[in-house]
Amino acid sequence: MDLSLVPLTELERRLREGERGPASAKATELLLALAKVYHAEGMVRVGSVQVSGVSFHNLGDPGLDFLEEWARSSARAARLVATLNPAGMDLERWEEMGVDPGFARKQLRIIAAYEAMGIGSGLTCTPYLAGNLPLLGQHVAWAESSAVTFANSVLGARTNRHGGPAALAAALTGMAPFHGLHLDEARSPDLRVEVTADLFEPFHFGLLGAFIGMEASGALPYIILSAHGNGPKERAPDLACLKALSAALPTFGARPMFHIQGFTPEAHLHQPPEPCLRFGPKELERTSASLNDPVDRVDLVCLGCPHAALDEIIAVSDLMGQRRAKITFWLATSRAVFELARGAGLVGSLEDRGVMVIRDTCFVVAPLSGRFHSVATDSAKGCYYGRGHNRLKVRTLPLEQCVEAALTGRAG
Ligand code: F3S
Repeated sequence: MDLSLVPLTELERRLREGERGPASAKATELLLALAKVYHAEGMVRVGSVQVSGVSFHNLGDPGLDFLEEWARSSARAARLVATLNPAGMDLERWEEMGVDPGFARKQLRIIAAYEAMGIGSGLTCTPYLAGNLPLLGQHVAWAESSAVTFANSVLGARTNRHGGPAALAAALTGMAPFHGLHLDEARSPDLRVEVTADLFEPFHFGLLGAFIGMEASGALPYIILSAHGNGPKERAPDLACLKALSAALPTFGARPMFHIQGFTPEAHLHQPPEPCLRFGPKELERTSASLNDPVDRVDLVCLGCPHAALDEIIAVSDLMGQRRAKITFWLATSRAVFELARGAGLVGSLEDRGVMVIRDTCFVVAPLSGRFHSVATDSAKGCYYGRGHNRLKVRTLPLEQCVEAALTGRAG
């Protein structure tokens, strides 16, 4: 990749001379304005973009009009890997999900507009599991907060958290303003987090992320998992745990990056900062309590926030055993992982046991208001937005308890 910066004067010259059409000119103008706001010295070329602003639930008619206007004006993606964030429905099974046909028509128009611009694939918040996998040191322009945090922290790629229009502009031009987390100095931690609670599964890592975000808004944490000996139970976080932490941290207020001592790729470049936060059993319990509404029954169970990896689908299948869900049970994943799971016979057998494996969407960006009242999930991020976007009562529980809730409708 060419790491030389494109000077802002070069963009201004392109605009004066007339860009490759009105959409490209608008995209360049938008990036130029952002670069000036953030005092960026230039633009960095990006090889990968992840675009948010896909669900009609979030975009509404103004967003749809905006995208169709850009598609009509011949906007086309640059030569790079560009994927989309989840839509408001499974593109094939929206009727089974109970999505209104009027909503579905508009959602499909949004997808068509993106496809016309050459950005048609993905529909996932885990693009790194679906072919959009930047590596250490690569500059990218991603939008979805959990994916941005995962890219910066776990992959060691470099991206700020872009808004939907800015990510679209990056996809069209192949550039992003060079500031913030593209720079070494912005990737230094400013808070040491000593973890003494036992963290076994994604649920616990989600609580850790929520706690840091709530206690130290704006922090970039350096996490020490073995601070006071998690003892024999201590283990390295797996992919699902890292996804959960990446999702919760920025949702609750932290910056979209973390280091884990001895584990993430840039942690060795830094010393643990002085300011310190401790996350022990009491903090874990307190955070868990704050993410649970006082309901003892749920009418929906949703897993896969962020979208489930294959091993998480296997874990759900194992926990279900031969039993069958009694209430609506959605397990969300990407189209790419869905195909792997289908090939392994997991999708069919889960569906036989009442688990609907949904693609392209999740319970936060799908229109659920009024259809369900209370949900069980193992995701701290899912709790935050389930309460906000879809006005649901939420039980945030370990995976096994979510599965039990699906079997009985009782939650904790
Ligand atoms: Fe992904 Fe939806 Fe959660 S976009 S991170 S599954 S809220």
